[in-house]
Amino acid sequence: MKLADNKATLSFSNGAPSVELPVYQGNIGPDVIDIRKLYGQSGMFTYDPGFLSTAACQSAITYIDGDKGELLYRGYPIEQLAKNCNFLETCYLLLYGELPNETQKADFENRVTQHTMVNEQMQFFLRGFRRDAHPMAVLTGLVGGMSAFYHDSTDITNPEHREIAAIRLIAKLPTLVSMAYKYGVGQPYMYPKNDLSYAGNFMRMMFGNPCEEYKVNPVVERALDRIFILHADHEQNASTSTVRLCGSSGTNPFAAISAGVACLWGPAHGGANEACLNMLEHIQANGGISKVGEFMEQVKDKNSGVKLMGFGHRVYKNYDPRAKLMQETCNEILQELGLEKDPLFALAKQLEKIALEDDYFVQRKLYPNVDFYSGIVQRAIGIPVKLFTGIFALARTVGWIAQLNEQMADPEYKIGRPRQLYTGSVARDVKPITQR
Ligand code: ACO
Repeated sequence: MKLADNKATLSFSNGAPSVELPVYQGNIGPDVIDIRKLYGQSGMFTYDPGFLSTAACQSAITYIDGDKGELLYRGYPIEQLAKNCNFLETCYLLLYGELPNETQKADFENRVTQHTMVNEQMQFFLRGFRRDAHPMAVLTGLVGGMSAFYHDSTDITNPEHREIAAIRLIAKLPTLVSMAYKYGVGQPYMYPKNDLSYAGNFMRMMFGNPCEEYKVNPVVERALDRIFILHADHEQNASTSTVRLCGSSGTNPFAAISAGVACLWGPAHGGANEACLNMLEHIQANGGISKVGEFMEQVKDKNSGVKLMGFGHRVYKNYDPRAKLMQETCNEILQELGLEKDPLFALAKQLEKIALEDDYFVQRKLYPNVDFYSGIVQRAIGIPVKLFTGIFALARTVGWIAQLNEQMADPEYKIGRPRQLYTGSVARDVKPITQR
């Protein structure tokens, strides 16, 4: 960390001695005030529920400029990665810091494809779930369950274990997500086919069956690959922070990633794509475009509890760059599949148009996020709505593991242990039950 020229001085109105705090500079983005010694020096904590102003770590992986609407993975703009690279190259970049050359790319692809199968016993574990279980419930269990299967890569303090766990997680998530899907619909599981691309293999495991050859549609394959790239990492969001906090106790990588899957499930985070599609279907079923105005009034009414799902973001106060790319993919895929007149797409565009011009959204700087269009693309591809967040988890796994490994390799890392402002009862004595 680079010390800035200036320091911060914290003074108190009650005359207590002021405290001088160091300031550090990142390569881009806001500086940070180092408050690590604040408690020792002043006996006070800082208070920041929801981490609105708190950097919980230093990281060299992903950078977001929320005002500009800029997203960089290891310095590369997301737009360039989405156009020029595939998902596995992006994984390599996130994990190792640089884009691979041809040899490194081939070697990495080879390493990943050699790990695509899961232990045969996994299917019996899966059978314990109800067929109608939510895929995210199943996935949380399956990913956590990996620690019971791959004992040779569970020591998070060992860099080799971390490396094997990273490859295993990236390789096996498509297999597990498609197994969760096949189990739900009562179809036989498909083994991975390693001469296909990462996205192509996933499509075959999802939509193929053992009775027929499966032909990968290259336009759909590219769209899916793009969804994976756009969701691969997003710096210290809720699920990534969960993975870091969970991993900070020294637990094994599979357990830490399953905590990330569980956190991602929530509708304020990864579950928003499912919630967004449900919202569009609900509006469509209740009058479609003609009812958009009425729906927007509900959204703006604080007492209604209705939100425009797929809109708004803690960090982006401008158009989410991923939403632009996703809208482009949405156009391409609907055209390829002959669904240009898809009513939900028309509805989404209308909602976006109204929202971008409406004072409520303009004043609060609410723009479409990646989930606004990703659900329409996934639905067009044939992915069931309940599985949307599972696809997000599959793609985000590389980000989680890259961030976890960065933390574990950091000599300054400590177990995460937030403090609190206690508002409960002061110490009191337990009375005998007859006097309570
Ligand atoms: N619809 C209507 N109003 C909204 C929306 C929305 N989607 N998002 C934010 N607002 C309003 C809030 O009510 C609040 O209004 P107020 O200032 O009058 O009280 C203001 O905008 C600021 O919003 P906060 O909730 O304070 O912002 P925060 O950073 O805490 O929340 C969040 C961000 C959770 C993403 C929020 O915008 C939201 O719930 N959006 C819908 C869910 C969604 O799309 N989530 C996906 C996030 S991206 C991802 O995980 C891939």
